[in-house]
Amino acid sequence: MRFGHLLASCVAASAIVSWQASAQQASVIDMDKAAERAVATVRQMTADEKTVLTHGIMPLPLSPNTPPMPADSIPGAGYISGIARLNIPALKETDASLGVAYVRGVRKDGATALPSGVAMASSWSADLMYRGGAMIGSEARAKGFNVLLAGGVNLIRDPRNGRTFEYLSEDALLSGLLVGAAISGVQSNNIISTIKHFALNGQETGRKFVDVKIGEAAARESDLLAFQIGIEKGQPGSVMCAYNRVRGEQACSSDWLLNKVLKRDWGYKGFVMSDWGAVPNINAALNGLDQQSGEQLDTAVFFGDKLGEKATTDANWAARLDEMNTRILTAIYAMKLDARPASPDGKIDFAANAAIAEEVAKSGIVLLRNRDGALPLAKTAKSIAVIGGYADGGVLSGGGSSGVHGENGAAVVRPVLADGVLASFFSQQYHSSSPLKAIRAMAPRATVTFRDGRYISEAVEKARQAEVAIIFATQWQTEGLDVPDLSLPDGQDALIAAVAEANPNTIVVLETGGPVLMPWLDKTAAVIEAWYPGARGGEAIASILFGESNPGGRLPVTFPARLDQLPRPKLDGASEFEPNYTGEPPTPDAKLAADFDIEGANLGYRWNALKGYKALFPFGFGLSYTSFASSGLKIAGDKVSFTVTNTGKRKGDDVAQLYLVNRGSEATQRLVGFQRVSLEPGESRKITLTIDPRILADWKDGGWSVPAGDYGFALGRNAEDLGTVVTLKMSARSWKD
Ligand code: BGC
Repeated sequence: MRFGHLLASCVAASAIVSWQASAQQASVIDMDKAAERAVATVRQMTADEKTVLTHGIMPLPLSPNTPPMPADSIPGAGYISGIARLNIPALKETDASLGVAYVRGVRKDGATALPSGVAMASSWSADLMYRGGAMIGSEARAKGFNVLLAGGVNLIRDPRNGRTFEYLSEDALLSGLLVGAAISGVQSNNIISTIKHFALNGQETGRKFVDVKIGEAAARESDLLAFQIGIEKGQPGSVMCAYNRVRGEQACSSDWLLNKVLKRDWGYKGFVMSDWGAVPNINAALNGLDQQSGEQLDTAVFFGDKLGEKATTDANWAARLDEMNTRILTAIYAMKLDARPASPDGKIDFAANAAIAEEVAKSGIVLLRNRDGALPLAKTAKSIAVIGGYADGGVLSGGGSSGVHGENGAAVVRPVLADGVLASFFSQQYHSSSPLKAIRAMAPRATVTFRDGRYISEAVEKARQAEVAIIFATQWQTEGLDVPDLSLPDGQDALIAAVAEANPNTIVVLETGGPVLMPWLDKTAAVIEAWYPGARGGEAIASILFGESNPGGRLPVTFPARLDQLPRPKLDGASEFEPNYTGEPPTPDAKLAADFDIEGANLGYRWNALKGYKALFPFGFGLSYTSFASSGLKIAGDKVSFTVTNTGKRKGDDVAQLYLVNRGSEATQRLVGFQRVSLEPGESRKITLTIDPRILADWKDGGWSVPAGDYGFALGRNAEDLGTVVTLKMSARSWKD
């Protein structure tokens, strides 16, 4: 990776120091040395061997006439044969960023589910991301997998995206630093992680044919920057390209994205694997794709014999094939897959791993509203009415390839489709971690009733009879399908409004994939956003409700006040195309364009700042049971310092946030640094951050450029609640990646 001198000195907030330290202890990744070894191995390969690593199957019985699977494959997402003669291990791949996927029970084993991506990102903690990544990576390894298809980092451009829950945030710096930490954690197990889906995979509607229109500068300053930072920090062995088209080309066959941006400009040395069923034709190889994954899902096996034939007759193709092998082997050697092979009989300490999932969940829960200190609840409460959300059974999980489940599968399975081949693939599933049980354990003397919320009159009656009503409201998101709007489905908005009317002491617990609207907000006493909180979500929610944990989560995504605050109030393609979960074009010539140039690099809070919109809850927002103050902001060059104090009476975590708020006369807003801190009552901590110059810069003429002028910075409680502006004069500078 080539850095200018400016970037060489650019390390992120000191918040990541501890995960960097643990990452270094775990393993040193030397891609250059691995690449040298890879070149030597490729020299020993026969022509036949050269197309072994470049393609593979999805080792699952996809249809009744599926041929037998290779003896050493493990049911999961992917299998690439190894080459025993050269001691090259097979690649055994499993999804995904939230843990080892359950693949609908085909493997009949369970794993530990981390909270959703956006829940983890709400912790704003690279250290926790690292530990979560290390935990799920250890489970993948113990099950015999040596590739974890983790590292989902597409920026949240639209909260209706069905995969919002899998991703991290709307901000490139936050997303990039967090995903880098998660990848380091995964790879500390001597397995490969991906970073995905490269790039601009911003909606599920028409996902295999939607063409994303975006200018180069806007792309480099937003989605691509998140990948760039994530790759620098995490050094993933592989990049997974995306389903969608970008600027007219399929992302998995985009010379611009793969050859120019990733490999040339960023100097990336690992390999690009395709998403499953995302390879348009053999030319994708020349355009930078190194490996065809899940080949049964494409129209042909392009990277097997066909590629071999090209290489025997054309020197260009032969050189490219060698490079593809070199890159795949570089990742294998860098992560030491051959020296420390994974085997399926590893031990998993499920209790210890669940404790990590619970810690992450608690750290990511966001307290959105707390009228007159309604929370935390007293453990001496006499009567509590718990309503809705299958809170008696468990906590919601997102759908699609990232679905993880414990032993014996989900606690609750709620069908979504009644008919067709996809019916068994898509259903709403709940992890076995009952909030109701956890609430009962916290308040053992209380009478705790439960109603499922199907009948409003019944829920209202129970709420009226109790001191406190706690409503669990869910919004299910899944890969393959966007949500049509930001309401809570199944009449839950009406249920909450009626219950809150009946009992002023109504607490709403949201288990949503991403932002939702809250028409009932003013009537409630308190609201917490618990997202999809993972294997121990019920316990984490109860811990926050009763004050055993002090909420320190902050929103990594803007909650809009209205749909028409979004750059595209109407989601592209949603009304033209029938939802089909696969994103396949209904006809070969179907066309769909998504104009990301509308907001360009100004996603979420940056879009609101430009437009003067006030969010329902802004980016960075989150309340606490204590209070914090920041002071003494000083900026010298790229070094920033200030002090955070816990001014309240309880121990708690704050997330210090530093924003650029103007550049000369230009109104702009950019998160330039952050750090989560844990403080005792009355305790102060000095924070130091280093600014990544790319955050202050524009992408211009093929490089980064910081225009001369006065730059205004402010500490913020969130993106809308900003402190005193400190102005710094900057001289012009520009550099190349
Ligand atoms: C998803 C990827 C996943 C792959 C393998 C695709 O549908 O987009 O994120 O890794 O399937 O299951």
